[in-house]
Amino acid sequence: DNLFNSKQSVVGRIEKITGKPCPFIKCDLLDEGKLDEVFERNKFDAVIHFAGLKAVGESCENPLLYYYNNVVGTVNLCNAMKKYNVSRIVFSSSACVYGNDARPPISETAVLNPANPYGRTKKVIEEMLRDLTKADENLTVISLRYFNPIGAHESGLIGEEPNNTPNNIAPILLDVLTGRRKEFSIFGGDYDTADGTGVRDYVDVRDLAAGHILSLEKVKRTGFHVYNLGTGKGVSVLELLHSFEAASGRKIPYKITPRRSGDVDTYFADCGKAQAELDFQTKYNIKDMCQSMWKFAEKNLGKEEDADEDF
Ligand code: UFG
Repeated sequence: DNLFNSKQSVVGRIEKITGKPCPFIKCDLLDEGKLDEVFERNKFDAVIHFAGLKAVGESCENPLLYYYNNVVGTVNLCNAMKKYNVSRIVFSSSACVYGNDARPPISETAVLNPANPYGRTKKVIEEMLRDLTKADENLTVISLRYFNPIGAHESGLIGEEPNNTPNNIAPILLDVLTGRRKEFSIFGGDYDTADGTGVRDYVDVRDLAAGHILSLEKVKRTGFHVYNLGTGKGVSVLELLHSFEAASGRKIPYKITPRRSGDVDTYFADCGKAQAELDFQTKYNIKDMCQSMWKFAEKNLGKEEDADEDF
């Protein structure tokens, strides 16, 4: 991790949760020299590649930043893997590779037509990784297309805490609940959905984490493999808002504003392939996701520094 959008104190918390040492190296994938050192000094069975920028709006304003960081970073990582004979990689892809015309439930065979530079970096990386598997018969690539990840670890020790202003619904709702924002804006109340608000496939980060482990355990074949990770169920903005209210016991003041450009009414996964091939079954529902995020928020958000000794 280059700690661009995270804190080093998280490492100690991970050790607390797992009861195991968690060696950490601060390294940016764009720093080829340091990356080479990391691979030289360690022996890796596989790589799980989470390092990427992920804000859709920012990627439209600064596409070069996104192509440089996400695509070049992955090129550097693959070069190091090749040099040091590491032949398995799990890549964090995104449901946004499908774009806005995809009709739910969206399966892995849907046409890829991402609507923004961020999504296009994910598509380009997937294409590059697929090409690499064609040129190297020993290579295994597993690309996991996340739907809308929310939730936190149930200990309240680790969760989402963006350094910049959040763009995604869950951290914004938490900002309202913790008083950092006055009210929540629902982007559009006239969608063709049961309550008129947008519907998404929110998936708990704990289920996502399990999906990565399963993919490393279950995928034995070389080549390029792609899986959707979601719940297969759609939840509306209003349903999520009410679930955060229930979890926190607080009201969330909101107003309905015009639609956000580029948003679609309904987007959810067909998870059949991950279920069949990885035994991927989600354990956590919307209530669990909101409760875990609220627990993390209460313990951490708005606090000056991570007081690790408190835990
Ligand atoms: N929303 C609001 N108000 C807000 C923020 C969001 O009403 O202040 C609504 C959106 O209109 C949408 C839903 O909440 O209906 C979810 O919005 P997010 O911005 O949290 O997520 P998106 O579905 O737009 O996109 C996210 C990620 C992408 C990823 C995509 C895949 O930001 O990177 O999920 O499904 F690709």
